[in-house]
Amino acid sequence: MTCLAGVIGDPIAQSRSPRLHGHWLRRYEIDGHYVPLHVTRDMLSQTLETLPKLGFQGLNVTIPHKEAVFRLANDVTERAREVEAANTLTFRDGRILADNTDGIGFIANLRQQAPVWQVNAPALVLGAGGAARGIIAALLNEGVPRVTIVNRTAARAETLADLFDRRVRTMPWEMASPALADHGLLVNTTSLGMTGQPPLVLDLAALHADTTVSDIVYTPLMTPLLKDAQDRGATVVEGLGMLLHQAVPGFTEWFGVVPDVDDELRAAVLA
Ligand code: ATR
Repeated sequence: MTCLAGVIGDPIAQSRSPRLHGHWLRRYEIDGHYVPLHVTRDMLSQTLETLPKLGFQGLNVTIPHKEAVFRLANDVTERAREVEAANTLTFRDGRILADNTDGIGFIANLRQQAPVWQVNAPALVLGAGGAARGIIAALLNEGVPRVTIVNRTAARAETLADLFDRRVRTMPWEMASPALADHGLLVNTTSLGMTGQPPLVLDLAALHADTTVSDIVYTPLMTPLLKDAQDRGATVVEGLGMLLHQAVPGFTEWFGVVPDVDDELRAAVLA
């Protein structure tokens, strides 16, 4: 039987997920389709009722539905509960299971691109939005001893710090540059530096060469932040890999194959 899955969002045209899953479907010669679906907020609950009846095995979920699908699901994984949002749904026996794979996607990408990364070093996270939430949860689960959040809106950083344990603290943006000296990992989870967005202004003079710098922005692939860090000898981790790795659990559930994240996939997604 043909397997069906897709991605829902509003807007949806920008999503790379159809290319990504489409590549895997062809590569593993699977009888299946993965489709982008433009779903507005008012259509969301009806869509979740209808798609399983049409034979869909599951969905990826993007802006603005990640929190709403978490609330509409029948069952949620621990890692979705931690961040109160979901990006992967599986339909089974009339129930909806919600998972959040952003955090493990981030970690898998980090481990693949920066084998030198040491989990026992403190991490500095720029941003306090949905992406930061998933990444901080995953870093703490991995065993990072301390996470410092730096955000334009201090109150949002405080809210996030309260959500986690005492291993998370906040810091004003002005203190981020000198604090780099005490951190083994710097992660940009904001949209700063993305094509069409304002630049990310951060002086990297205090960065050690053994620091790992990671960006979730992947347009451009090599962001100005990563370029600056690389020029200073740091290990850099581009953001496209997180997108690729977060897709693995869904594809495995729906299509029954554990897919590879490799250069061929990168090329297919960027084409
Ligand atoms: P996401 O779910 O992708 O994380 P989000 O929840 O809208 O998206 O969060 C975006 C993050 O980028 C926030 O940390 C935001 O800072 P604020 O909390 O102060 O809004 C940050 N961000 C976006 N544009 C920014 C800008 N021009 N300057 C500084 N920070 C910015």
